[in-house]
Amino acid sequence: MTTPPGSTGPNGNADRLWLRTDLPVEARVEALLAEMTLAEKVGQTHQSANIDPVADAELIRGGGIGSSLLASGATAGNERDAGIRVSTIDAVQQIAVEESRLGIPLLFARDVIHGHRTVFPIPLGLAAAWDEDLVFRTARLAAAEASLDGVAWTFAPMLDISEEPRWGRVAESLGEAPVLAGRLGAAMVRGFQGDDLGEGDGRGAGSISACAKHFVGYGLVAGGRDYETVQVGENTLRNLHLRPFRAAVEAGCATVMAAFTDVDGVPMHAHRHLLREVLKGEWGFDGVVVADWDGIGQLVNQGVATDLRDAAGQAIAAGVDIDMVSGAYAAHLAELVESGEVPLDLVDDAARRIIRLKIRQGLFERPYVGAATAEPAPGPEARALAREAAAESFVLLTNNSTLPLAPNPGRVLLTGPFVDEGEALFGTWTLDGRGEDVASPAAAIRDRLQDNAIVDNGRFSDRTLHLVRQADVTVALVGEHPSRSGEANSITGIGLPAGQLEVLRAIAAIGKPLVVIVFTGRPLDLGEVLDLADAVLIAWHPGVEAGPALIETLFGDRAPGGRLPMTFPRSVGHLPSSTAARPTGRPIAAADDPVTGRYLDALVWPRFPFGWGLTYTTFSYGPIRLSSNEMPVNGGSIEVSVDVTNSGTRPGREVVQLYLRDLVADVTRPLLELADWVSLELDPGTIGTAAFRITPAQLSYYDRTMTHRIDPGEAVVTVGPDASSGASARITVTQ
Ligand code: NOJ
Repeated sequence: MTTPPGSTGPNGNADRLWLRTDLPVEARVEALLAEMTLAEKVGQTHQSANIDPVADAELIRGGGIGSSLLASGATAGNERDAGIRVSTIDAVQQIAVEESRLGIPLLFARDVIHGHRTVFPIPLGLAAAWDEDLVFRTARLAAAEASLDGVAWTFAPMLDISEEPRWGRVAESLGEAPVLAGRLGAAMVRGFQGDDLGEGDGRGAGSISACAKHFVGYGLVAGGRDYETVQVGENTLRNLHLRPFRAAVEAGCATVMAAFTDVDGVPMHAHRHLLREVLKGEWGFDGVVVADWDGIGQLVNQGVATDLRDAAGQAIAAGVDIDMVSGAYAAHLAELVESGEVPLDLVDDAARRIIRLKIRQGLFERPYVGAATAEPAPGPEARALAREAAAESFVLLTNNSTLPLAPNPGRVLLTGPFVDEGEALFGTWTLDGRGEDVASPAAAIRDRLQDNAIVDNGRFSDRTLHLVRQADVTVALVGEHPSRSGEANSITGIGLPAGQLEVLRAIAAIGKPLVVIVFTGRPLDLGEVLDLADAVLIAWHPGVEAGPALIETLFGDRAPGGRLPMTFPRSVGHLPSSTAARPTGRPIAAADDPVTGRYLDALVWPRFPFGWGLTYTTFSYGPIRLSSNEMPVNGGSIEVSVDVTNSGTRPGREVVQLYLRDLVADVTRPLLELADWVSLELDPGTIGTAAFRITPAQLSYYDRTMTHRIDPGEAVVTVGPDASSGASARITVTQ
């Protein structure tokens, strides 16, 4: 492939100030914008899927397209595609750079959600590690691999606050708590973009632009049914759902994707207030808002636009800069401007943002992919990171000392549908991972125990019961296949898939130790499984190193370190069930209180609270210490600390969680809200101190007039191992 532009192109580069890396980004943006015709500006707003250098040559040459999505279709996370062809990308770029009037390269986008070729745990699993540095490193590696394949832009992180397990897309999320999702999302943005790695204005090679999605409220789809409508008021949006997006924007996230849904009747692709006024105005977001797949076209289905032309006018006014595949902008935007129905300023604003994105991405300096220099399959370092991430994501729900297994546990049976799986251990949205790269549980147990490993054939059958009788310990690998998780895969029952519970009953009836490993993209109602099993480990969908991570954890080479990033409800009937609950006029006096207990037929409390997770040792918490009980609203802070003792016999990691509650405010505030956490790695018998600094900002909120404020008054600080327990103290925010 020929050299980058700057020296080439039909008009040379003498006047092409936008190619000059010595100029500030904004000067380059304006220089290019000043040269662009209306048609070329509109071209930048048009994104199509899988652009082809032959079929689409005229479109590219004419500057009629700005970006291309590498995807199999509307729900690309559920299907395999043919993979990326670097030669196609470079052929398209050559036409754009060498043959179009202004030589503007295209942005190639792909959903790189939890790894590229090296697949890490699903985002919900990564969130369970409660580890920003880990998330950063996985995103960094994914960006490096993806950029070698020509991907310049990924549609991640997914930051929809997720408290609805019926909704399949919770697998892609970072959980239910704004602080957890916000901090991990920001870490993911920094990992993809590498902005803080000292590369200057333009992103360095090996970095890709991130996209915070889906803005906003998508996690609230009615009944957990994907694509449904959303009823939510602005106060809840601001105090909950918008917060992780704000964190991503503050971390420099290059782009934001609009959600498919409406918010209280206004589809997000036409939501001028939230997109243009809040995101772009109030927050000062100077990046790009991209539509979701056909999101602009869908305004017609949603019944707010008469046709594509109307939809285009509404979406550009709302602040959607790039039209993903609907074609509405390409077909109608220029004419809408010429007829005076859409001000040119709106198109300028979109084009300016897209050019800025391309300059920041370093696309003008590096439009071509060229020959791959990377190892195609995950190398040792990538595998080590994938194994670490998987092991850190595992959440031990229950354990009666069966785990860790003894070094010589006798004969161990591995049974269930996931024993020898490849792709099924990846989870949703793994377009470029390959099943053959997976280190399976079967291989890992054979490696470890040789003749003492008994591996079932991946099907539960009567044969399974024979094998259980031959074994000293059974490890059953159950749970949902990725095809029951992700986009468009909502369910009404959140138990194990059909048949699995019955087999577990039969296995447990034999009376030998039973460890249940649950692969899942969502919180499940495990009910009876908890009684049948001696230990239950949530393994999510762990990725390419699933097997070794699991076997090392079962044998105690690693201790499970994960904590639930979503509440595990008692049943579907209990939904919603999360830490987002706010005070009512009639607080729950006791779970079984006849008036305030909420349900006649069940306890209201979750099965496992947010933040829950055991490990192979135990911890005891000392009392809360506060540097002061008072915190001046202006510039004050309080140091909070708690001593935590490893009271067990093995080393372990404790995730110490800080929760806050504002007792009196202008609007109802959460009964409990995660404000911070620290991880302590402690050897047996040693004491660590979890130290936090509380600031008034952590108690700030939006009031009934949507004004951001902090009130003087009392608040409760709780420090503990999860959202259901801990020691509390009162503090006062003073004037
Ligand atoms: C639709 C999904 O909602 C979105 O998350 C994804 O990024 C796009 N399709 C592109 O594949």
